[in-house]
Amino acid sequence: MKNILITGGAGFIGSHVVRLMVNKYPHYNILNLDALTYAGNLENLTDIEHKPNYQFEKIDITDAKMVSRLFATHKFDGVIHLAAESHVDRSISNPLEFINTNILGTVNLLNAARMEWNGNMEGKRFYHISTDEVYGSLGETGLFTETTSYDPRSPYSASKASSDHLVRAYFHTYGLPVVISNCSNNYGPNQFPEKLIPLSINNIKNNKPIPIYGKGENIRDWLFVEDHASAIDLIFHNGRNGETYNIGGNNEWKNIDLIHLLCKIMDEELGRPAGTSAQLITFVKDRAGHDQRYAIDSSKLMNELGWKPSLQFEEGLRKTVKWYLQNQQWLNNILSGQYEQYYNEQYGTR
Ligand code: NAD
Ligand code: DAU
Repeated sequence: MKNILITGGAGFIGSHVVRLMVNKYPHYNILNLDALTYAGNLENLTDIEHKPNYQFEKIDITDAKMVSRLFATHKFDGVIHLAAESHVDRSISNPLEFINTNILGTVNLLNAARMEWNGNMEGKRFYHISTDEVYGSLGETGLFTETTSYDPRSPYSASKASSDHLVRAYFHTYGLPVVISNCSNNYGPNQFPEKLIPLSINNIKNNKPIPIYGKGENIRDWLFVEDHASAIDLIFHNGRNGETYNIGGNNEWKNIDLIHLLCKIMDEELGRPAGTSAQLITFVKDRAGHDQRYAIDSSKLMNELGWKPSLQFEEGLRKTVKWYLQNQQWLNNILSGQYEQYYNEQYGTR
């Protein structure tokens, strides 16, 4: 493997994957393609941007011509596809953008790979990064496995489910060497502050209300982002073509319990009396179609490829809090302008 395309590498998970690949594989040429939407931020990659095996191209994956041209120029051996619209609340207010990027954008990449690799698929790989949300919502028991039926319930998860189906269709129809993984909720440094954990860290720091949807009883399975990146590295190199691998933290938390733990850590890190931050918890109108529970069975990935998460949740959460407190400038650069407008639309009128 020589030339690797990573899409969405300026985003949260993508930037951790780019960093891992650039540092671990100096003999690979890593090209990061990203449209730099509101969620894409090259500041996430300042530590590796001058490495000789790293390159960046600002391209929108909905632009089929530009995508094909890039493939023709660079002769990629592998693709790790993370670029997507990723926030459920935004998909509720603006579904079309999710259809365009997540479905059409993925098809553009599949077509370009197929065109370039048609003569010789040997040693090639198209790796599509997906989410556990395609499986829908769990009741009190059970786990999502790789054979759980798809049942997406938000425009975001429906668009990701659709792209997963298309990736599989290109495997069966055209023999494209694909692999897919479906991961649970990630957390860690560089996550855009629209998501629950960084939004709450920022609000607690600024003594603003922490908005909890509904009664805070929804459950998510949290995984530290670097553990997701290490799973992606393993699956990209050792996963089997045509297979799906579920990735999860075996770490289920009710939102309200997670926020109480976060408040405790924030009180300790900010030197506030115990209980101060929890007073900011505010219950707000529920998310439309809010999935009740996600929980992943990662045993296939663990047994087949030997992956396991490295961090305990409280340790990972404290590391994340410290990162946000030490990187206020990173946050300040995001919090103004466009994001402020989104925040007011999403939370201002509740
Ligand atoms: P993110 O929103 O932080 O980053 C997405 C990146 O994609 C940004 O850099 C953005 O600029 C880029 N992008 C968006 N539209 C684009 C377009 N049309 N062309 C080119 N680039 C575009 O997302 P994330 O949380 O890092 O998620 C990355 C991937 O992982 C997504 O595919 C998401 O579905 C999946 N995923 C995320 C999680 C999670 O908890 N965040 C969990 C499982 C799977
Ligand atoms: O499960 C994987 C998915 O996790 C990824 O595919 C998505 O890209 C990612 O955004 C994430 O989706 P969620 O909707 O689970 O993440 P979010 O951080 O938006 O919300 C986590 C939980 O917290 C969810 O139950 C909704 C709730 N929540 C969220 C926000 C933003 C609140 O209670 N208040 C909030 O302000």
